[in-house]
Amino acid sequence: MKKSFITSLRSVGMAALSYALVAGSPLAAMAKPLTVGFAQVGAESAWRTAETESIKAEGTKRKVNLKFSDAQGKQENQIKAVKSFIAQGVDAIIIAPVVETGWEPVLREAKRAKIPVVLVDRGIKVSDDSLYSTLIASDFVSEGKMAAEWLAKKVNEKASIVELQGTPGAAPAIDRKKGFEAGISKYPAMKIIASQSGDFRRSGGKEVMEALLKKYGNEVTAVYAHNDDMALGAIQAIEEAGKKPGTDVVVVSVDGVKGAFEAMVSGKLNCTVECNPLLGPMAFDAVEQAIKGEKLPKKTVVQDKAYDQSTAKDVIASRQY
Ligand code: AHR
Repeated sequence: MKKSFITSLRSVGMAALSYALVAGSPLAAMAKPLTVGFAQVGAESAWRTAETESIKAEGTKRKVNLKFSDAQGKQENQIKAVKSFIAQGVDAIIIAPVVETGWEPVLREAKRAKIPVVLVDRGIKVSDDSLYSTLIASDFVSEGKMAAEWLAKKVNEKASIVELQGTPGAAPAIDRKKGFEAGISKYPAMKIIASQSGDFRRSGGKEVMEALLKKYGNEVTAVYAHNDDMALGAIQAIEEAGKKPGTDVVVVSVDGVKGAFEAMVSGKLNCTVECNPLLGPMAFDAVEQAIKGEKLPKKTVVQDKAYDQSTAKDVIASRQY
């Protein structure tokens, strides 16, 4: 009798305990729609728009209350957005960081508020990597190397190259430069004769290319652009200078957007190294796992591959962005 009384007391206690655990726990949070803040870089390129659409679409599919912020290319706007997400008490924050540095203070605020942060597409430099849950991104160094290798083969290891860099301080600009330089270092006759930022924008690529063509003229035999939008701008500048892009000047870039495939089909762009922007499903998987307190890998690398004119026609119809 005494024993069964104690047993029932125990079960009531266990039930109350599990209710308390569930009610105040991530499980309870999972039951109601999640509220997630997404601090996006901006809309500087077709790639960026594809990434935004992927995250918005996946959020809708999972019935997430998504708070979207476009930082218009400015880190200060992103930091403001993250602070506002924290003040609103969101369940998690996704950030595609404009630049690599300057994140520690705001990430500490998020950590203090126990809000997990998932980084997408671009990495950051912090002294304490517990400030974010995970990063889902391509390997930009390897993209730069792939572009270099492809170009070396195309030009028989000899070229005077104009490099169009992305946004200064951004992980893809830093790492695509590093990877490309490492890639061409094996070929003494492949030289970067000029390297300037076009800020990942088509207009930036065009302006920089116009100026560099005026300065270097026929000396330029190849262009390496850190993204397709700048390559497409450069192609316009090359045509306006009376040259044939893809023939007089070999053009190689990174991203793999539809416009790049169209330019390859028309013979104006020679090669693009794909960088997949369709990160929505992976980002929300990570958000859900982080909220549940699961341990995530510090980085998940998205696999990329190079496409050139020889395959562009066959794959263009199946491109999703
Ligand atoms: O971070 C990814 C890069 O950012 C893409 O290559 C580029 O198009 C974008 O703006």
